[in-house]
Amino acid sequence: MTLFSQTSLPQFDSKPEKRLEKLEEFRQKFQYDFSVVDQVPISASIPDEAKAGTLWNLKIVATQYQIRRNWEKILEDKDYVFEFPLPEKPVSEIAKMLIDGDLLNYIRYTNPDLGVALKDKRPSSFTQYYELFKQFDIPEGGDKLFDDGEFADYFVAGLNPVMIQKLTALQDNYGFNDDHVNQHPKFADDSIEGMIADERLFVVDYFELALLKDGQHPDQPKYGYRPIVFLAVPKNGDNLEILAIQNEQGADALVLTPFSGKWDWLIAKTMVKVADSNYHEVVSHLGLTHLLIDPIVIATFRQLAPQHPLHTLLVPHFEGTLPINALAVKTLLPKGGTVEQLLSAEIETGYEVLRIKRNSFHFRDNLLPANLKARGVDSSSKIKNYPYRDDGLLVWNAIQDWVSDYVDLYYNSDSDVANDNELAAWTSEIMAPDAGRVNGFAPSEGIITKQVLVETLTMILFTCSAQHAAVNFPQGRASAVAYQPLAGYQPAPTTEGLDEQGATEFLPPLDRAIKQVHTLHLLGQTYYTQLGQYNLGTFSDKRVVPKLWKFQLALRGVESTIKDRNKTRRTSYEYLVPSKIPQSINI
Ligand SMILES: [Fe+2]
Repeated sequence: MTLFSQTSLPQFDSKPEKRLEKLEEFRQKFQYDFSVVDQVPISASIPDEAKAGTLWNLKIVATQYQIRRNWEKILEDKDYVFEFPLPEKPVSEIAKMLIDGDLLNYIRYTNPDLGVALKDKRPSSFTQYYELFKQFDIPEGGDKLFDDGEFADYFVAGLNPVMIQKLTALQDNYGFNDDHVNQHPKFADDSIEGMIADERLFVVDYFELALLKDGQHPDQPKYGYRPIVFLAVPKNGDNLEILAIQNEQGADALVLTPFSGKWDWLIAKTMVKVADSNYHEVVSHLGLTHLLIDPIVIATFRQLAPQHPLHTLLVPHFEGTLPINALAVKTLLPKGGTVEQLLSAEIETGYEVLRIKRNSFHFRDNLLPANLKARGVDSSSKIKNYPYRDDGLLVWNAIQDWVSDYVDLYYNSDSDVANDNELAAWTSEIMAPDAGRVNGFAPSEGIITKQVLVETLTMILFTCSAQHAAVNFPQGRASAVAYQPLAGYQPAPTTEGLDEQGATEFLPPLDRAIKQVHTLHLLGQTYYTQLGQYNLGTFSDKRVVPKLWKFQLALRGVESTIKDRNKTRRTSYEYLVPSKIPQSINI
C-alpha cells in the first residue's frame, strides 16, 4: 500500500491542507538547475523519492565488472602500453564503494581513463577493432559493414530511426542525379523526378550539424561530417534501398554509390554513421529523452500531490531518471569527459546544438503519429517496412488505451480536467522559461480536456519507455567501433581510391576505441524494469487492477505480433519488443 491511499483530484479532496503540506516539502527538495547546460534545466539534487531501487545499482555494478575484466584481458593479451596503468584498489575500498552505492567511483575504477596509447596507437585493420571484445561477445549485427540492405534498414530500425523523411524536391546543394540512381539494378529505369512523383524517394540530411566544431584528440585532429543520404523504395518493393551518399553539403561534394570502390563506399557509409552518432547522442538520445523528461519529473513532485492520481501513474516511469542524468553530467558530459573524447565535436558546440534542438522541440507536434506524418513516412507511405514506426505505433496505442482507461477512473468530464488546479500548475511549470522549458507541452488554453490530457500522458509514458528504449539500446550494437565510429579521424575525401589501410585511418585510435566499446556496452546492455510491470502496491485503488491487466495483456499481444514480424523482416528489430522496454529512462 502506498502511504497516500486516498487517491483523489484536488477539487474533490476534503483535506487540501495535507496535500499542500507534502507539496511544500517536495518544492524544497526538487529544484531546477540551469548551470550545467545553459538554458536546459536538470534537477539540482537527487531526493530519495527519485532514486532507483537497489537492483538498478546491482545491474550497473555487474556490467561494470564485466568491463573491468575486459580491460584486464585486453592488457593481458596484447602488449599495449598506455600513459597510465590500470588502477588497483584494495578489496576493502571496492567493497565500501559497493556498500555505499558509490557508482561514480566504481565506474571510474572499472572503466578508467588510461590516457592515450604510447605505442600501437591505432589498430591497423578493421579486424583489430573486433579483437577488443574479450569478456563479452561482439554485438549482433556489429560486423555487418558490407551489407547494404542492413545499412538501408539502419534508418528505419537502427540507432536513430527518427531522421528519414520523404524528399519532395531536389535542393540546390545536392549533387545527386539520375546517373547515380540508374546504377542500381532495382532502379535501372527510374528517375529522381519519377520517384518524387511516386513519393518513393527519401533523404537523411545532417545539415544541422554545421554548428558543431571539430574537436581534437591529443595525437591528431578529429572530424565530423554533414553528409546527405538518398534512399528509395523500388517500384512494387517494400524495403528501402540505399542509392547514394553525398559526403558533404556542397553540390560539388563527392557522391558515392554502392557501385563505387569497396573502401570508398564503406567510408561514405562510415561518415554517415559518424554524423548520425553525433546527432543521435546529443539530440535524439540526451536532448529529446533524458533532458526532456528530467524537468517533468521535477514538476510532477512539485505540483502533483502524492494523492493525485497522475502522480501515482507517472512516478514509476521516472524511476532512476534523475540519478542516471546526474551520473551522465558528472562522468560523461564535462569538458574533456567521455562524450567529448568519443564524439567528433568540441563539447561546447555539442551543448549549443543540444540547447537549440531540445528547447525548440515542440512536444505536441511530436506525438508519434504526428511526427511520422510530418516526415512523410506514416503508415500510408511507400516505406512498407519501417520497424520503428510499425512497432512503435503498436506500443503507442497500447499505452494510449491504458492511459485513457486510467484517466476515465478519475475524470468524469472535461470540466473535471479544467478544474484540476494541480494539473494546471504542473502544466504551467513544465512550460515556464524559468522551470521546465518544454515547448508546446500544452495548447495555449492549457490542458482542459480529457483528450489532450490522454495525449500528453501517452507522450510522456512513451518517451520514458519506448522512445528511450529505441534510441538507447541500439548503443549496444554501436559498441562495435568499426561498424559505428563516434568520430572521424580523416577529412571527407574529395576523390575516390581508398584501400583498406586508407579506410582504417578514418577510425578512432586505440584509446578512444576501447572507451567506446566499454561505454556503449554499459549503456546498451543494462535493462532495468519492464513496461507495464508496476511494483506491488503502486495502485492502492482496486479499480485500477482490471485496467492494468488489460494493458499487460495488450503488451503481450504486441510482443507476439513483433516476434512474428521479425521472422520475415530483412533486419530483425528487437528494441520495441515490450519485454525489453524499461518503464523509465534509467540508463
Ligand atoms: Fe539512455
